Amino acid sequence: MTQGEKDKLIKILSDPILWGSSFCKVVDKNGKTVPFVMNPQQTELVNGLSKYNIVLKSRQLGITTVSCCLSLYYAITQPNSHCMLISFSMDSANAIFDKLKQMYDSIPNAIKPRELANNRSYLKFDNGSKISVCTMGSKELARGSSLKFVHISEVAFCKQDKVVKQLLAIEQALLPDGKIVLESTANGLNEFSNMWERAEQGESLYKPFFFSWIDDKIMFAEEYKQFAIRYKGIYGKSLEHNELEPIEQTYFDMGASLEQLMWRRLKIANSTEMQFKQEYPANPLEAFITSGANIFNAEKVQRLFNERKTIEKITSIPNIPIELKLYLNNYLTVRRHIVGGVNSTLL
Ligand SMILES: Nc1ncnc2c1ncn2[C@@H]1O[C@H](COP(=O)(O)OP(=O)(O)OP(=O)(O)O)[C@@H](O)[C@H]1O
Ligand SMILES: [Mg+2]
Repeated sequence: MTQGEKDKLIKILSDPILWGSSFCKVVDKNGKTVPFVMNPQQTELVNGLSKYNIVLKSRQLGITTVSCCLSLYYAITQPNSHCMLISFSMDSANAIFDKLKQMYDSIPNAIKPRELANNRSYLKFDNGSKISVCTMGSKELARGSSLKFVHISEVAFCKQDKVVKQLLAIEQALLPDGKIVLESTANGLNEFSNMWERAEQGESLYKPFFFSWIDDKIMFAEEYKQFAIRYKGIYGKSLEHNELEPIEQTYFDMGASLEQLMWRRLKIANSTEMQFKQEYPANPLEAFITSGANIFNAEKVQRLFNERKTIEKITSIPNIPIELKLYLNNYLTVRRHIVGGVNSTLL
């Protein structure tokens, strides 16, 4: 090996993004096997990864896939790395294992350590590394120790009464340089939304990453194109700017293209606007309040939240009843709508 080749290899081995695109392949949404070139959301997560990470997201942006890649990267390049991919149900854990296996099989044999075990629960290598796939609450979790990397899928759909306790145990098992990624779409106001809220307010160790459908210009590119053609077929012409409804105008101002907005219209025609917002949120509040039961008018709260400048979180309220004080900044969040610099409504 020449010095140039050696330098190149060292560079690849020290960078999971480069390692992934050099050695891993993924089956894309069109069923094609392609080199795993990370999309902007995956790159942002990997580059910004801290020890504790929480990801709230729109569907299908590739967060589970990038976690499979990170597990393989650590397990193969760093001996004695124990990585865990956890999910809320057996079916979902199996689907994750399939993704992991597909990516693992695509890696050239020359760079793989020797396999000691390869079954539906884990991959184990002769360099002392192991990647386990299990469900939340399984015995495997209790045995997990010295964890290098942990990914938990759909945290908002795990049994919420157990999630905090189990997370604590997993966090205890993390190595000092270990990393944990909690990934979920929203499922109403619950432990996951609390964890998100605390992370967003800088009140916990977790670093928040929010990925909106509007920011995706790659993963659904083919579908946007197809839906735009279908839209034209149904309505005789493409959507034009002057036809946008107020909420669509807000999304347009946030960066959504007309093609994406046609895609959104057809998705909603096939389900409901609420369902769309739950699966494809444009901001965190939209994700949480449309996916649970609400006392307040979700549309109004969202409209105000979309005009972010006019809304602020209140962290202390004088003379608040003790019953509510217990929950303030925990389960209870109070926001104030400011009109022309004057505080007006408590939300
Ligand atoms: N960088 C990429 N290039 C091409 N295809 C990708 C890439 N990343 C992921 N995919 C494909 O996109 C699809 C969705 O990926 P994945 O399941 O990881 O997304 P997710 O954000 O975890 O989705 P979910 O909302 O279901 O949890 C999969 O078919 C995967 O193979
Ligand atoms: Mg996922």
